Amino acid sequence: MTQQLITYPVWDKTVRIFHWVNVLCVLGLIAIGVVILNSKALGVTTDGKILLKTVHVYIGYVFAVNLSWRIVWGFIGSRYARWQSILPFNTEHRSQLSVMSRAAKTGENIGFLGHHPIARLMVALLFLLLSIQAITGLILAGTDVYMPPFGNTIKAWVAVDQSSIDLIKPYSKEGIDEIAYKDMRNFRKGFVTTHYYVFYALLAAIILHLLGVIMSELRERNGLVSAMFTGKKVFTNKPFDAD
Ligand code: HEM
Repeated sequence: MTQQLITYPVWDKTVRIFHWVNVLCVLGLIAIGVVILNSKALGVTTDGKILLKTVHVYIGYVFAVNLSWRIVWGFIGSRYARWQSILPFNTEHRSQLSVMSRAAKTGENIGFLGHHPIARLMVALLFLLLSIQAITGLILAGTDVYMPPFGNTIKAWVAVDQSSIDLIKPYSKEGIDEIAYKDMRNFRKGFVTTHYYVFYALLAAIILHLLGVIMSELRERNGLVSAMFTGKKVFTNKPFDAD
């Protein structure tokens, strides 16, 4: 007997646009980041390095604005876009976990329209890692290539005097006070290290996220992947978290 499939709307337009813009930006940032990391081995010149970092920062701005808007949308967006429906360790998540463990014992087939309770953990981790990359990246944009939002503040910090601010350019010692510059490089060390390690953590989280999506899609067949394009999932029974 064929079972009837019911379609439920879940991801609004803002969530879908955020998701695909984020995917494109993160892929671009990773690709350029890997070249920056290996620039010595690849024989990239100083000008080439500055160009790579500048392009990385411009993509980073799109990434950071997109991410910030999604964070705001988590407070004002539609039912399944909200933090209450996305993040773990709240009342909704606890009731999902208890219904899941009950279903595991009884063999009942329980579906979730929003994120699966286990996926909430991964989504929270992804948002955390993306936010750390955005914050550290914006600080590095200022301390490395003197780009906004902190570039002018950093220039004023390392300049010999206020008249030499305009002379300050990335990878040049002109107009630079050596002691202030050393202090600034020490200040940024922690941010570089964080940006570097979170890059690897993010790579691992992205791989786990993709594996999770593929496994869920094969097991539950709710149209998880196409839902990020159409906004809709399909179920044979009413999902636990559907209104
Ligand atoms: C998912 C987001 C991001 C990823 C995966 C990423 C990845 C990377 C990687 C792998 C490097 C090379 C690290 C190194 O040389 O030690 C790098 C460097 C850099 N990133 Fe990002 N990045 C991201 C977001 C951003 C954002 C949002 C900005 C700024 C708007 C930014 C600005 C920079 C800058 C300025 C550098 C050069 C740092 C330096 O060499 O001192 N990044 N990034």
